[in-house]
Amino acid sequence: MASSLFFTHSHCYSSSSTSSFVFRIHRQLGVTPTSLRFSSSYVASVAAMAMDSSAKVIDGKAVAKQIRDEITAEVSRMREATGVIPGLAVILVGDRKDSATYVRNKKKACESVGINSLEANLPEDSTEEEVLNYISGYNDDPSVHGILVQLPLPSHMNEQSILNAVRIEKDVDGFHPLNIGRLAMRGRDPLFVPCTPKGCIELLHRYNVSVKGKRAVVIGRSNIVGMPAALLLQREDATVSIVHSRTSNPEEITRQADIIISAVGKPNMVRGSWIKPGAVIIDVGINPVEDPNSSRGYKLVGDVCYEEAIKVASAVTPVPGGVGPMTIAMLLQNTLISAKRVHNFE
Ligand SMILES: NC(=O)c1ccc[n+]([C@@H]2O[C@H](COP(=O)([O-])OP(=O)(O)OC[C@H]3O[C@@H](n4cnc5c(N)ncnc54)[C@H](OP(=O)(O)O)[C@@H]3O)[C@@H](O)[C@H]2O)c1
Repeated sequence: MASSLFFTHSHCYSSSSTSSFVFRIHRQLGVTPTSLRFSSSYVASVAAMAMDSSAKVIDGKAVAKQIRDEITAEVSRMREATGVIPGLAVILVGDRKDSATYVRNKKKACESVGINSLEANLPEDSTEEEVLNYISGYNDDPSVHGILVQLPLPSHMNEQSILNAVRIEKDVDGFHPLNIGRLAMRGRDPLFVPCTPKGCIELLHRYNVSVKGKRAVVIGRSNIVGMPAALLLQREDATVSIVHSRTSNPEEITRQADIIISAVGKPNMVRGSWIKPGAVIIDVGINPVEDPNSSRGYKLVGDVCYEEAIKVASAVTPVPGGVGPMTIAMLLQNTLISAKRVHNFE
């Protein structure tokens, strides 16, 4: 992997000694006391934090395993009752190693829960028409309940027209504009919710984090993560703000949040000082940073400085092992939902 991809330092924590207790905690959080003014309640909550300074780790790997077990049981119940086996078709165009790995992992995950997986591997120089032909075949194939086009597509292809060709009833990625439109509208329900944001919300539910009435901040506004995550939080009655690359003073906004979902792609951007004590942090970012101790020469970290966040937040997802495993679990769940809907199986 090119070294330009790496953030130079994997550490985001700097320690220093001060005479004041609160200043010492602020330093731990990466805050420069002279640059900020804190209310007495903030200081009190920082002091409380020092009494119990270790957040709960939100174990996405364990939750994803639990969900896969539930899906396995449902797939077999459906097969026994109807003879139908849910099927997922994945279209991979080109020979990107990372995409091939994702597709392989999805295939393995399908096998592990009893979902059939079909795969179309097309060469990099395929035409858009060839990809559309595969989509059309899978659209008409009753054994296929979900279709996934692995992104990114080669640059000569129009991603929009290819994704739009997937029948909305089989859009298990949830990226079709009709699904996103329904997600955004009150009183409407999408057929599928995009997998990564759905996984974030599922983690909140499974850890009994209440969302209703809470202040939530989503960092990032991409079509596949940030934007649908904000819509989902809003549907759950959170008061939602979105921080993006043009936001001034993002840390002032994130410091008000009871829940932060970060989907940026910048290692360790969210420091301890950005986090309100007791907040719940869902870190979607997956970023490679140099690691001389690893045989690969790098390790993966999130957008959030984990070692600082764990001291301030009440619960944090690790990277890896947080949101990542949930994404595939949600894809399997969407495929099962699709098959059940088509065959009217409750
Ligand atoms: N765990 C999983 O399964 C999973 C799934 C998908 C993605 N990811 C990871 O999640 C991260 C985000 O993915 P993505 O596809 O959403 O990325 P993306 O399309 O590049 O979007 C990044 C978003 O971050 C915003 N941003 C960039 N710099 C910022 C800054 N300094 N401050 C605040 N916001 C900033 C951008 O703002 P603008 O809109 O203003 O440009 C954009 O909205 C990546 O690390 C990716 O690898 C993980």
